[in-house]
Amino acid sequence: MKTFREKKHQPAPSREDQGAQARPAPRRSARPQGALPAERLPVILEVLPNKDYALLDSGDGQKLEQYGPYRIVRPEGQAIWRPALPESEWAKADAIFTGDTDEEGMGRWRFPKTPLGETWPMRHEDIDYLGRFTSFRHVGVFPEQATHWAFMRSLIENAKRPVKVLNLFGYTGLASLVAAKAGAHVTHVDASKKAIGWARENQELARLTDKPIRWICEDAMKFVEREVRRGNGYEIILLDPPAYGRGPKGEVWQLFEHLPAMVEACRQILSDKPLAVVLTAYSIRASFFAIHTLMRDSFAGMGGCVESGELVIREQAAGRALSTSLFSRWVAE
Ligand SMILES: C[S@@+](CC[C@H](N)C(=O)[O-])C[C@H]1O[C@@H](n2cnc3c(N)ncnc32)[C@H](O)[C@@H]1O
Repeated sequence: MKTFREKKHQPAPSREDQGAQARPAPRRSARPQGALPAERLPVILEVLPNKDYALLDSGDGQKLEQYGPYRIVRPEGQAIWRPALPESEWAKADAIFTGDTDEEGMGRWRFPKTPLGETWPMRHEDIDYLGRFTSFRHVGVFPEQATHWAFMRSLIENAKRPVKVLNLFGYTGLASLVAAKAGAHVTHVDASKKAIGWARENQELARLTDKPIRWICEDAMKFVEREVRRGNGYEIILLDPPAYGRGPKGEVWQLFEHLPAMVEACRQILSDKPLAVVLTAYSIRASFFAIHTLMRDSFAGMGGCVESGELVIREQAAGRALSTSLFSRWVAE
């Protein structure tokens, strides 16, 4: 599956592998005993056009999106159909990702009308944050994740007890902000200092600096292994790993190699009264059955239900659905 995130997370070329740190082979324990959780699939979670964000049109390998005030064109390998809107609508774009230089960040964007700043104000429901023209086509938010955020928010609000959320591979922190706003204590882990900086900026903009969020710049695997040793527990764990990534010390993350041990460790750091573990996977050559089976097997004996499927965005112009990623979540009874 080729999505706009694929480039960043492909196994890096040898130049980028300088400084890569081989990780010891993940230690796996025996297969968990007990009945497999119930299952529900396929579950297609859909984001509809809304006032903050809309997929306006798609086709010919591109997508046209409205992010707050800006209309943005980006490549979209899966849009193998024809655009529905006339060219004149696409020509109104404020920003186009060209990717035609090796430059970092804004250098890879073209602004046909007027040069734009690196960031712009965005809003998700009542949470203000910054959209951002970054390298690799990203704009600082993955709108399809909104269905996960709504699900998590209702779990937190309905729990009527303190809830601790662990957000692994947290990026610019939208999920952390939604969780904190709903009343959770949040631990946000990401390998990138820059991404943590952006997430903290978003926390300020969202006026949520008084909320309990721990920002941790660390390799996600090392962090969960340490939490296992410390015996810490969380009610909700969010996992949004790239196909390929690096910890701050060059620790290599390869989804197929490391995800099983990561999910196993996540099970170990669930509290006595867990609520859910939500996994999303982008840009991998696998069916959602692969992560579904991993999750069901990993949560054997825990009861609950594993729901799996895809996160899709419903397009405004012709009502077509664009798939963005696979997901699988274990939900307690
Ligand atoms: C863009 S986000 C969301 C991931 C998304 N699933 C994707 O494919 O792009 C990925 C985040 O994971 C972080 N990351 C990559 N490798 C990591 C690691 N080993 N430990 C912790 N965070 C990591 C990156 O800094 C980035 O913020």
